[in-house]
Amino acid sequence: MSLDLQLSGKTAIVTGGSAGIGLAIAKALYSEGVNVAIAARNPERLEQAVSTIESLPSSGATIISISADLSQAEGVEKVVSTALEQLGQIDIVINNAGSARAGAFIDLGDDAFLDAWNLKLLGYIRLVRAILPHLQSRRDGRIVNIIGGAGRTPRPSFLPGGTTNAALLNFTRGISKELAQHNIRINAISPGLTATERAESLAQQNAQSQGVSVEEVKAESLKAIPLGKIVKPEEIAALALSLFCHFPE
Ligand SMILES: NC(=O)c1ccc[n+]([C@@H]2O[C@H](COP(=O)([O-])OP(=O)(O)OC[C@H]3O[C@@H](n4cnc5c(N)ncnc54)[C@H](OP(=O)(O)O)[C@@H]3O)[C@@H](O)[C@H]2O)c1
Repeated sequence: MSLDLQLSGKTAIVTGGSAGIGLAIAKALYSEGVNVAIAARNPERLEQAVSTIESLPSSGATIISISADLSQAEGVEKVVSTALEQLGQIDIVINNAGSARAGAFIDLGDDAFLDAWNLKLLGYIRLVRAILPHLQSRRDGRIVNIIGGAGRTPRPSFLPGGTTNAALLNFTRGISKELAQHNIRINAISPGLTATERAESLAQQNAQSQGVSVEEVKAESLKAIPLGKIVKPEEIAALALSLFCHFPE
């Protein structure tokens, strides 16, 4: 049996779509013929991502970028209104923009926790709330929250991220029951350590706070992974796409 994604002509928002996992998901959706709006802060990086995505083979899909700070309520509103204005409708939302600091608990102040919660926890919740009236009116929609292993397996050196991810697992499961009444699906993907810029900067932060080398931190992380290798963003994108496949009734 082959998988039938039937995604051509659909429309998606991918937050944090200018780099890492978000960029890999945006590329995968675009290659399936999905019109994609990528959102992040840095306009140059967004433009670079648009050029990369446009160079991929696709059956006439559109790619647009929206520069917005998703840790702010206005940023989330801007993403939704611009995407609807320019693409007409939204079928898929990939909540992915996140960034939490690593370090020893005693060294991290309120700002480290508040920054992580504002961007990822409130950012994801606000985006679901902002897009809901549109999805409800169409009685259709798919939302994927990219969360992270620290939500279930917290580490003392990553508590701003762990607490964010634990709350998002709770939110995703809790809201799923209400969304299902409107034929809207919401799922979570919790990647393990994935080869992105962010993974690199987390390794540096951990090395600094533990007083060891980046190589030592990386070697320690690999020990905890059964396959002994770090996952590629494209593998997370393939997993996200698999959530969209249709099976005949
Ligand atoms: N990499 C891992 O090992 C790993 C593991 C588990 C879970 N995750 C989760 O996966 C998601 C993506 O991580 P990644 O590793 O792909 O990160 P990344 O490579 O650092 O990319 C982050 C993306 O988010 C955007 N972003 C950051 N802050 C933003 C803000 N305030 N407003 C709007 N956009 C913002 C960045 O662009 P700008 O900086 O230009 O805004 C960029 O496009 C995150 O939620 C992360 O927690 C990652």
